[in-house]
Amino acid sequence: MAFPETRLRRLRYNKVLRNMVTETHLRVEDLVYPLFVCPGSGVKNPISSMPGNYQMSVDVLVEECKLAVSKGVKSVLLFGIPESKDEHGHVACQSDGIVQKAIRAIKSEVDDIMIVADVCNCEYTTHGHCGTIIDNDVDNDSTLKTLADQSVSLAEAGADIIAPSDMMDGRVLRIREALDLAGYEKIPIMSYAAKYASGFYGPFREAAESAPQFGDRSTYQMNPANSDEAMREIASDIEEGADIVMVKPALSYLDIIYRTKNEFEMPTAAYNVSGEFSMVKAAGEKDWIDEKRVMMEVLLSIKRAGADIIITYHALDAADILNGTK
Ligand code: PBG
Repeated sequence: MAFPETRLRRLRYNKVLRNMVTETHLRVEDLVYPLFVCPGSGVKNPISSMPGNYQMSVDVLVEECKLAVSKGVKSVLLFGIPESKDEHGHVACQSDGIVQKAIRAIKSEVDDIMIVADVCNCEYTTHGHCGTIIDNDVDNDSTLKTLADQSVSLAEAGADIIAPSDMMDGRVLRIREALDLAGYEKIPIMSYAAKYASGFYGPFREAAESAPQFGDRSTYQMNPANSDEAMREIASDIEEGADIVMVKPALSYLDIIYRTKNEFEMPTAAYNVSGEFSMVKAAGEKDWIDEKRVMMEVLLSIKRAGADIIITYHALDAADILNGTK
């Protein structure tokens, strides 16, 4: 036998064959598009650190949702920028809250769309932390109440999936109980199960106006150094009733996505967060990388690692490429 015995390159010459032996396929159905809703009408404020993303009033948001659905992106994740904030985040639990209004408007004007509602207090509290502050600490157990109230209120407005992103212990169980009690036992919970204290959230905090006013989130979000601990977080969320588990961020945490899918065999979501998006955009603008190519490579790698669902600000651009329209 001539050397080398194995010629892996044989499978790479013919484009048809190359496509045939492709192992991972990214689909528009995999993508969730995050959006920021703010008060007013006709508002479309550019978010400077996230080119192509905006704070949108409800009317503008509805049009964006129609555009997304027309491209096959039928799932959106909503974040609210409220008119006013308070100590505990009660503004997020009102039936006329900004996200509740947005959900009602989208549901009445856009067909065939699925709305994921992010549940957290940081956009709604004056101090920007994800829960109620007691003795300079985000108090776990009293925060569970506002999270459960917020969840029920979002379900009442018509949210299809509830996605808690706060990282309090026990919140999935409390939210599940509250949803069931209110008659929403059919609404799934997608928990941000392994959410790291990450520098990659920087641009989001401009977008959602949710930066903590003191300290940081390292007493509730995870240490980027830890992987076993992520498995414990995920196991406890599943035990408490999570239907889908999420890893966040995605790109620096592909190993965590891989472990999650392998160890739990659960529907797994990954959040390709704001900083990951903005790095690609910035380098693309400078012509340092081929932006579209890198975008698709990033999304594909997240899928290959094991994510079934990818939350990404690239959703519409990626859809254009997947649909062959750009
Ligand atoms: C709210 C929340 C954050 C993100 C999603 N939900 C910010 C944070 O935890 O500080 C970040 C998303 C992104 O960066 O795109 N808790």
